[in-house]
Amino acid sequence: MNFVSDCKVIELDKHHSDRKGNLSVVENGQQLPFPVKRAYWLYDVPGGESRGAHAHKELEQLIIAASGSFRVTLDDGTQKRSFYLNRPYQGLHVKPGIWRDLDDFSSGAVCLVLASEVYQAEDYIREYEEFLRFRK
Ligand code: TYD
Repeated sequence: MNFVSDCKVIELDKHHSDRKGNLSVVENGQQLPFPVKRAYWLYDVPGGESRGAHAHKELEQLIIAASGSFRVTLDDGTQKRSFYLNRPYQGLHVKPGIWRDLDDFSSGAVCLVLASEVYQAEDYIREYEEFLRFRK
C-alpha cells in the first residue's frame, strides 16, 4: 500500500545553455522510477478548471509541468498533500493507489504525464467513495 509520503518530486537532468535555452531528459532505466509505456499531455485547460479526480489501481505516473504551472493534490485516504509544479525539470512521482486532483492551471500550462502502462479504463477509480473502500 502506497501513501502520499511515498510520492516525491524527482529532479530531472537539465542541460543548460546560456544562449540557447535548456533541455531536460528522462530515459527508461536511468532517472525514471518505472519503465514508460505511454505519454500524454493536458493543455488548453481553461482557468478555474480542474482535472484528474481519480486514482489508479496499478498505474504509476510522473507528472511534469512542461510549461506553466498547476497544483497537484495527492490523497491516500488519510493524508493529503499539494504540490505546486512549475519547473519543467521536475517530475512528481505518483505511486499506484493514490487519488489525484489537478487545478490552478496557469494560462498556457502543459501537464506532461509519463505512465507505466498503456490506457486501461478498468484501472481507474473515479468515485471517491469507491477509492476509500479500495484503500481499506
Ligand atoms: P480523463 O482520464 O477523463 O482525463 P482527466 O481525468 O485528466 O480529466 O481522459 C479524458 C478522455 O481521454 C477520456 O475519454 C479517456 C481519454 N484518454 C485516452 O483515450 N487515452 C489516455 O491515455 C488518456 C489519459 C485518456
